[in-house]
Amino acid sequence: MNLKNIHKIEFVNETVIEIQKDETILQASLAAGIPHFHVCGGNAKCSTCRVIIHEGASHLSQPNKAEQKLKQQKNFGGNVRLACQTKVLTGDVKIQRIIKDITDLDIYVYGKESDFVQSIGDEK
Ligand code: FES
Repeated sequence: MNLKNIHKIEFVNETVIEIQKDETILQASLAAGIPHFHVCGGNAKCSTCRVIIHEGASHLSQPNKAEQKLKQQKNFGGNVRLACQTKVLTGDVKIQRIIKDITDLDIYVYGKESDFVQSIGDEK
């Protein structure tokens, strides 16, 4: 095993895992047991795997055409990447999953933020 081909991913407030150069972040994340959302199966169609890059952006693969297209459609900032399309090539990175549960899915993917905020204020 060539150690130059293995890097670390720190998931903010979660864990640190290792990733091989030929794996996507999503593949490494799932292999490590992280319940990483990937509704479209890793095909750059859903954006549920998206992550924020906190450190080490220059160590990542460049966005491919499929990722560029989805990022444009969703108007993602430059520090947001699709875990299913992104590889860690040259060094360690620090990232954060955005969608961690069903509530996040509703807010960030289905745009139900106003419903969610309203429900917090409702007295039962
Ligand atoms: S898993 Fe759907 S875009 Fe990455």
